[in-house]
Amino acid sequence: MNKALRRAVIAGNWKMNKNRAEARALITEMIPLVKDADCDVVICTPYTDLETALSLTEGTNIKVGAENCHWAPSGAFTGEISADMLTEMGVEYVVIGHSERRQYFGETNETVQKRVRAALSAGLKVILCVGETLAEREAGITEEVIAIQVKIALAGVSAEELSRVIIAYEPVWAIGTGKTATDEQANEVNHFIRSLVGRLYDEKTAAALTVQYGGSMNPGNAAGLLAMEDIDGGLIGGASLKAPDFAEIIRAASR
Ligand code: PGA
Repeated sequence: MNKALRRAVIAGNWKMNKNRAEARALITEMIPLVKDADCDVVICTPYTDLETALSLTEGTNIKVGAENCHWAPSGAFTGEISADMLTEMGVEYVVIGHSERRQYFGETNETVQKRVRAALSAGLKVILCVGETLAEREAGITEEVIAIQVKIALAGVSAEELSRVIIAYEPVWAIGTGKTATDEQANEVNHFIRSLVGRLYDEKTAAALTVQYGGSMNPGNAAGLLAMEDIDGGLIGGASLKAPDFAEIIRAASR
């Protein structure tokens, strides 16, 4: 099956957690626990931890990402960080369009698109987050919402560039709530995303696309979710802040 051709990617999303000393401790604990991973391992940290993460993970199998970037290369955008600033440091990944950015910081599909384009132009790999709210799911418009988010975010992205995009399906109602989508619910939307990409690009591109699930993934539910045909990894919030839990999810993805 196609799933076997795709390498799973397990990415931690630290959100606004871990000061420098805490980051150092977490990464130091994590390195030996994940060194034999048979999947890609990424940690996305606050900007202030990137330097620490990059230096500690040098020569290991852990890759480093940021949690956002701005679309302009430089300029009068107080408080923002550009994609080029990240690549210049050696950062490889960036999360774009996380639901917390959309919910609390006015991120729209249009600004997500601008950030995706800037990140790809700078050479970053993008973890593009999409997902419906509980109200949208209950209204039966999950697929419509996801389709709009994906289509707008990827407008103007070439098939070649898409090889550096991971799409993370993160139902908003499952994030940080302890309420996980069932294996089937998650797989259904991931499958929908892959089919949509097949229609927007082509079958080969869709088959190669990494589609993660995110939202309360933990050592208890990871194996079931990651065994599903269209779930190629996870974007992990809370459980990525504990090295043994994160390592356990990575083991589940390595099977
Ligand atoms: P959670 O967060 O695992 O804590 O639910 C996932 C995310 O927001 O990426």
